[in-house]
Amino acid sequence: MKASEFVSNIELELPKSGSVSWKSPSNIALVKYWGKKLNQIPANPSISLTLDACHTKTSVQFQEITQEQQNFSFDLFFEGEEKPAFKPKIQTFFERIESFVPFLKKYHFTIHTSNSFPHSSGIASSASGMAALALCLMEIEQKALPEMTEDFFYRKASFLARLGSGSACRSIRGSLVQWGMHKPIPESSDLYGITYPFEVNEVFEDYHDTILLVHKGQKTVSSTVGHGLMEGHPFAINRFEQAHSNLNALKSIFAEGNLAEFIKIVESEALTLHAMMMTSHPYFLLMKPDTLAILEKIWNFRRETGLHACFTLDAGANVHLLYPSSQKERTIQFVQDELVAHCENGHYICDRVGNGSKRLM
Ligand code: DP6
Repeated sequence: MKASEFVSNIELELPKSGSVSWKSPSNIALVKYWGKKLNQIPANPSISLTLDACHTKTSVQFQEITQEQQNFSFDLFFEGEEKPAFKPKIQTFFERIESFVPFLKKYHFTIHTSNSFPHSSGIASSASGMAALALCLMEIEQKALPEMTEDFFYRKASFLARLGSGSACRSIRGSLVQWGMHKPIPESSDLYGITYPFEVNEVFEDYHDTILLVHKGQKTVSSTVGHGLMEGHPFAINRFEQAHSNLNALKSIFAEGNLAEFIKIVESEALTLHAMMMTSHPYFLLMKPDTLAILEKIWNFRRETGLHACFTLDAGANVHLLYPSSQKERTIQFVQDELVAHCENGHYICDRVGNGSKRLM
């Protein structure tokens, strides 16, 4: 599909007022999106596991405004309190999606949003937050276009979410989501995420992700700035090619449930992401000493037990410990015995693969 196919040309018969609510999960990338072109087009394809426990709930009340207005009209409440600091991000999102959501200036919106995870946990809330908001807007559009197919509904939600935050397009549906043009996946698109279309072994259906909260403070460099630093990066071309070849290699790994090979790709992707940060100009470092200590302990644990716990990293210091559900007891014991000491205030979050966003009544 082309972006123009997401423009609603017909005059919509919109409701005067109403309320819609969605819950969207966070996601963790296995092959990382790092680098983008104009209009939130990714420089390379990525793939992620949709999470479950880490999510955002958003409700949007909409009230028709009778007179024409120049600007978007909305109030934003985060965990029950008005949050002016979060408004510019929503303003930018509305500006980017305005040509695809023609009713944005026809309503006053009251947006209430809350996260299941602590705001200052270092877990990005933009993916789940933008996904939930995009779904709320799609539900309003659907009220005016009830014949819209379910497929189009979710695809356009992913398309809109991407314009809020790239990784958000992978938080609409579960459980393995791919985003970005990749020739061997003919349905793949730079514009939205798709459910991974090839065979996936059942071991991945209930994969666990224990998020070790090493550093809960604000990151020194935002993802948006980091993406920008991939422009003219000395290793950019090789890195983008590597993402394609890793995605290719995952095809048989997903089908066979080959965990040893899965680990090699996932850990290499995480370290490559951080290597890109360390080799950009200006260079920067988001890992902390405790991040490195955890990675080494995970390698030791694997060597000693033969189990399949592995790590991945976001653009931050926290570590995502991934493992199959069948190895849960021993892995959680390892977390408690060895890794908790490296987490800020001993905090970690037990999450697992989930099924995607849900409409809330
Ligand atoms: C390292 O989606 O947060 O988590 O599009 O600028 O909002 P923006 O960036 P964002 O970048 C996520 C980067 C990542 C890798 C990934 O999730 O694929």
